[in-house]
Amino acid sequence: MKILFYQPHSNHDTADNDAWLRGLQQALPHAELREWQPGDHAGADYAVVWRPPRELFAGRHDLRAIFNLGAGVDAILGLERDFPGTLPRDALLVRLEDTGMGQQMVEYIAHAVLRYLRRFDEYEQLQQARRWKVLEPHPRATFTVGVMGLGVLGTQVAHALAALGLPVRGFSRNAKRIEGVACSSGELHGAAFDAFLDGVKVLVNLLPHTPDTADVLNARTFSKLARGAYLVNVARGGHLVEHDLIDALAHGQIAAATLDVFREEPLPAAHPFWSEPRITITPHSAAQTLRDESIEQVAQKIASLARGEPISGIVERERGY
Ligand code: NAP
Ligand code: GLV
Repeated sequence: MKILFYQPHSNHDTADNDAWLRGLQQALPHAELREWQPGDHAGADYAVVWRPPRELFAGRHDLRAIFNLGAGVDAILGLERDFPGTLPRDALLVRLEDTGMGQQMVEYIAHAVLRYLRRFDEYEQLQQARRWKVLEPHPRATFTVGVMGLGVLGTQVAHALAALGLPVRGFSRNAKRIEGVACSSGELHGAAFDAFLDGVKVLVNLLPHTPDTADVLNARTFSKLARGAYLVNVARGGHLVEHDLIDALAHGQIAAATLDVFREEPLPAAHPFWSEPRITITPHSAAQTLRDESIEQVAQKIASLARGEPISGIVERERGY
């Protein structure tokens, strides 16, 4: 079996790609592995990729499956949307399922939520000003966290926040049951979504980026939250209408935001978010792709497919996730 590997060198150095190739080879000793280079149109059965260029797929009608080295498949499906016919029609598109990202997401979001609950963000500002001042704590009973997206990651996050004793709501397309979490479901423009948002104090976004979810973090959504709410966006920059956040901060509807993802990454040096003290920025690092865990999962799935067995994590292209 022939396997192509690709991830952009801009994100990772060559040594990292070598380590991926070595790890995949060890896990699949009988496979012929190669790193895709421009101009490589030789046959392949599987592609293991992150943010691949369109050229990688040209004429590849032989591909059985494309393994995306992340949970979000928006970049790959975006190629198909912009240039229909890019992806081999019959190839399965498979996303990473957890592979250690759930734990990282729980840590990141619990940290952000507790930082706001205990007003550490404001104590950081007070320290800058050398001011000794005790702040009135936020009442826990109304510090409602709303988690948008109850998939592989959102479910773990909602569960962990509920275990901290916080009131937690969750929203997904299909109905879910998570212990300690008030789950609701529907589309993002319906009454159920408005009821989910109503009075939420911390809005956490863990939706996939699809045509249905693009721009969902907008002025209308913010207006439904509790006044002085907090935003934590760890999904995709394309979910957030950036000037609506700036306006909501200016008018006090949003008190502060923690953002890990941006419309343009890396976030340009001149971007106004950098100089807004109420916005906390991390460089798309909330939950990183862990090499060993990902290689193990991808290799197991390739072996299953080669034996003709079913696998999980197959993306529904029409749905976008
Ligand atoms: P997932 O398992 O596909 O879960 C997606 C969830 O969103 C599901 O609960 C789904 O509902 C819900 N959903 C999708 N479209 C919806 C809509 N239109 N209305 C309402 N709910 C909708 O995804 P995941 O593995 O949890 O990952 C979520 C996202 O996190 C990824 O797509 C990626 O963008 C982002 N991510 C970011 C980082 C980072 O480091 N910042 C790392 C990993 C992932 P159903 O369950 O009803 O289908
Ligand atoms: C990272 O952003 C991922 O989608 O895994």
